[in-house]
Amino acid sequence: MAVRAMLIKPVDGEATLEMGEVDAPSVGPTDVRLRVRAASVNRADLLARAGRYVAAGSRGGPAIAGMDAAGDVVAVGGDVQGIAPGDRVMAMVSGGLAEEIVLPAAMAIPIPPAWSYVEGAAAVAGLMTEHNALATAARMAPGETVLVHAVTAGVGTQAVQVARCLGAGKIFGTSRSAAKAGAVEKLGLDELIDTSERDFADRVLEATGGAGVDVIVDHVGGPYLAANIRAAAIKGRIVGVGRLGGAEGVLDLEELARKRLELIGVTFRTRTLAEKADLVAALRAGIDLDGAAEVLRPIIDRTLDWTMALAAQAELARNAHVGKIVLEVTSR
Ligand SMILES: NC(=O)c1ccc[n+]([C@@H]2O[C@H](COP(=O)([O-])OP(=O)(O)OC[C@H]3O[C@@H](n4cnc5c(N)ncnc54)[C@H](OP(=O)(O)O)[C@@H]3O)[C@@H](O)[C@H]2O)c1
Repeated sequence: MAVRAMLIKPVDGEATLEMGEVDAPSVGPTDVRLRVRAASVNRADLLARAGRYVAAGSRGGPAIAGMDAAGDVVAVGGDVQGIAPGDRVMAMVSGGLAEEIVLPAAMAIPIPPAWSYVEGAAAVAGLMTEHNALATAARMAPGETVLVHAVTAGVGTQAVQVARCLGAGKIFGTSRSAAKAGAVEKLGLDELIDTSERDFADRVLEATGGAGVDVIVDHVGGPYLAANIRAAAIKGRIVGVGRLGGAEGVLDLEELARKRLELIGVTFRTRTLAEKADLVAALRAGIDLDGAAEVLRPIIDRTLDWTMALAAQAELARNAHVGKIVLEVTSR
């Protein structure tokens, strides 16, 4: 059986997206087949189109766009337990932008009943990323102070929500645009620092009586490294999740040692399927997603039909959005 999929196609040395048809992959014993209803746009989609992002464990075949999906389970493999046809699930999965996909059952997370498919698609990648960054990498304890860089980004907004769920103390966020402040108000952020107006490390030190923050979730990278070291408290943990501003920065090893800081890098690219499944299990064990559905309800910037995938990626690259851009996957 053939299904429609949004394919990454090279044209004149550059890649574009084009609707095409692929054979629906067969369901292995530990897989589920999903009728996809929605998929979100992630920064990594831009890298995938540029040929600079290949997730570990990606299946062969034509390159299909998308990094996540939400929809209805329509078939399960013989060894799958706990998931049945008719279940609504969301998953981080390469090539999610297709009418039907097959994925390992271990990657499927039930969509909280209070959420739509669009909300499931919007939330899943950020929940996995930010829970891993805060709970596993940073070992954030209740009451600890947190600083989230690029807090208006899709995953940035979710870092605040996850930190709230985990019982964070004061949460600071940075953005280069104060105009976006209203849109992130409902996150429960304690203070938005406009980096076009202020040095964030100065402000964090001022607001914490010179102590600094316990945990920094950094989506910007290189240009913020030196100030991150200044803004961190003694025994602080800085988790490098994204490098929106570049991969290279200045590291003061003297301060790193004096404050006994931990600088931790994370990515999905080098994780095996078993490691990604562990991450799903840690998220589900660490947060009652159904119970926390209101706190974790993702901020949706806009929803478009999936035929608009290329335009949606261009919109993401413009950096004018807040939260997630989501594509609805409609069938013929
Ligand atoms: N490590 C992982 O496992 C993992 C998983 C998912 C995502 N990520 C990474 O996390 C980052 C965010 O992803 P996303 O999909 O949430 O992105 P996104 O929604 O496209 O975030 C874009 C926002 O980030 C800010 N930004 C962009 N360029 C910047 C720069 N040069 N300096 C400072 N801020 C900048 C802008 O906000 P303002 O205009 O408000 O400043 C922009 O609106 C990406 O680097 C992505 O690759 C990593």
